[in-house]
Amino acid sequence: MSAVLEADHLTRVFSRGLFNKVENVAVNDISLQVDDDNPSITVIAGESGSGKTTLASMLLGFMRPTHGEIRYRGRDIYSLKGNDWREFRRNVQPIFQDPFEVFNPVYRVDRILTQPAQLYRIAESEDEARELVEDALRQVGLRPAETLGRFPHQLSGGQRQRITVARAFLLKPKVIVADEPVSMIDASLRATVLESLRELKTELGISIIYITHDLTTAYQVGDTIYVLYRGSVVEAGNVENVVQDPSHPYTQLLMGSIPVPDPRVPWGENLAPITTGNEREMTVEGCAFAPRCPHAFDRCATDPPHFQLVDNRAVKCFLHEDRPVTDLESLMSTETASSVS
Ligand SMILES: Nc1ncnc2c1ncn2[C@@H]1O[C@H](COP(=O)(O)OP(=O)(O)OP(=O)(O)O)[C@@H](O)[C@H]1O
Ligand SMILES: [Mg+2]
Repeated sequence: MSAVLEADHLTRVFSRGLFNKVENVAVNDISLQVDDDNPSITVIAGESGSGKTTLASMLLGFMRPTHGEIRYRGRDIYSLKGNDWREFRRNVQPIFQDPFEVFNPVYRVDRILTQPAQLYRIAESEDEARELVEDALRQVGLRPAETLGRFPHQLSGGQRQRITVARAFLLKPKVIVADEPVSMIDASLRATVLESLRELKTELGISIIYITHDLTTAYQVGDTIYVLYRGSVVEAGNVENVVQDPSHPYTQLLMGSIPVPDPRVPWGENLAPITTGNEREMTVEGCAFAPRCPHAFDRCATDPPHFQLVDNRAVKCFLHEDRPVTDLESLMSTETASSVS
């Protein structure tokens, strides 16, 4: 199996303060891999501030990691030049939370879609570009005649997001990094957009890194999941296993906060706030979740936990110390391979 996109031990540290520098480790040693010939939907889940957008920005080449490397087809993306960099840009595309911020408000939808078709030389002629654009719109359930002449502000949030998905149908990238793509859309329209994302995978073989704080949508679209707590992965595996039967106390806490699988209730809404005073200093050596963990014992605050293999998923917690230690990267590449549907 060859990888189209790899994150190799990515860490991103933000510093603030001029003299007494305070360091915030937003992403801590995260590795993941997207296979070329094995399309999959990988969920990155975690509450607000857990590092999801920071990770997405690094994967897209918008932000440099403090440590670690992002590789596109085996090469560090920051070593790519000219055509190689353009190929990476075309093949690893973003979908954002609110596409309104991305679209130029003075361009009508036709221009928003035909421009990338021209830029990446997808069509030979204007007529062909138009035809491809119309096909892409129909693919996401929009009627070209009603959509093309409009400006972004004349569309609903759900329609705007469907246009970004149509753009993906047009460009056919290898990977899409979608950061909270449905969180600003009405619950009634969410299912359509999520369905279109799944079609991108099944019909075009596009892999998606789906970022969310909402476990219900994670369950609806994902194959595998990484649960982040303060920048670190605490549990990872097949999405069904993890969501139906979470093993890490943090994932359990998050699951407990949604008593019914109701898409209108955002995941983690009832959780206590993430930062209180000097929690971080207390847990630099040990498990970052220890100060909030209902099961924490002395060692959790002093020793770093390792990944243990619990029912086919990796869990970073001393509660599972009797289980074998596992290597997250090889476990997840097996999970991805078995998730093809
Ligand atoms: N440009 C930045 N400068 C300094 N700190 C930052 C910057 N971007 C993010 N952070 C910090 O990094 C941490 C992770 O932020 P990030 O935006 O990645 O979280 P998130 O999981 O996407 O949250 P949300 O669900 O609210 O979007 C936070 O503590 C945040 O304050
Ligand atoms: Mg974010």
